[in-house]
Amino acid sequence: MGYERIAVRRIAGACGAEVSGVDLTKPLDEATVGEIRQAIVEHGCLFFRGQPGMTDQDQARFAQYFGKFGKEPFVEGEETHPNVIAVVKEADEGGKPNFGGTWHSDWSFLETPPAFTFLHARELPPYGGDTMFASQYLAYESLSPGLRATLDGLRGVYSARVSYGPAGAFADNRNARSMKIRTGPEALDEMVHPVVRVHAESGRRALYVNPAYTVRFEGMTERESQPLLAFLFEQAVRPEFTCRFTWSPGALAMWDNRCLQHFAINDYGGFRREMRRSTVIGERPIAVAEAGTRAAA
Ligand code: SIN
Repeated sequence: MGYERIAVRRIAGACGAEVSGVDLTKPLDEATVGEIRQAIVEHGCLFFRGQPGMTDQDQARFAQYFGKFGKEPFVEGEETHPNVIAVVKEADEGGKPNFGGTWHSDWSFLETPPAFTFLHARELPPYGGDTMFASQYLAYESLSPGLRATLDGLRGVYSARVSYGPAGAFADNRNARSMKIRTGPEALDEMVHPVVRVHAESGRRALYVNPAYTVRFEGMTERESQPLLAFLFEQAVRPEFTCRFTWSPGALAMWDNRCLQHFAINDYGGFRREMRRSTVIGERPIAVAEAGTRAAA
């Protein structure tokens, strides 16, 4: 099916498309929202350039066309909107870790992680600060039938501890001090999700492990899990599964965490970068066996 309300231009073989013909500072009609939804299911991530006047309220309105706001853990919302957070790295924070600077699927340690994330560029460095995305459909589909069958039945354990735990990267508030990050013992909580999740809209299977939040396989120790996890983390982000977005002032990116991982490149020391981010929740990740039961029912 084609598009009548928007123009969609694919930017890479694996995932990603630029969308034009939409002004996100205005409410959108149902048909336009329907086409954006169709495009995100088709491409995994969408980029809307030239939205410079977009406010936090505009961003929140747009996000809510695609789902409900959930819990935004570990980062406080802005005064302007509780579900819009500022993702900031100051010019003098050059050597520090940046927010989102490890491959991940957003908040995948939550029971119902975000389906979609929205990120709006407010201030950009003169170069660098790109964001990369990797298709987890392709990461899964290019594995051997034998390994796919094994992974289909596995569950993983997810935790926020490496970043947000008492000894995590952001517990030292010299790291990301420019952001409203709260760390604490609640980051030690664990959540179990399928290692392969079935996308509720496309029906395709996607790999769902990431180095930021997947700590082991259920029923195995971390040491036992590590070799296969290390292989999967590498597999997940092979260059041919990725696209890379170079930001322009006022651009907004929207991505589907159910079938992509992403990575914020930390290569702009000496310059400030400020983005605004919102997420809306999706379904609890659906395991292959569960999707089969749903289809048969
Ligand atoms: C994120 O992981 O949400 C941040 C991505 C970015 O800043 O490019």
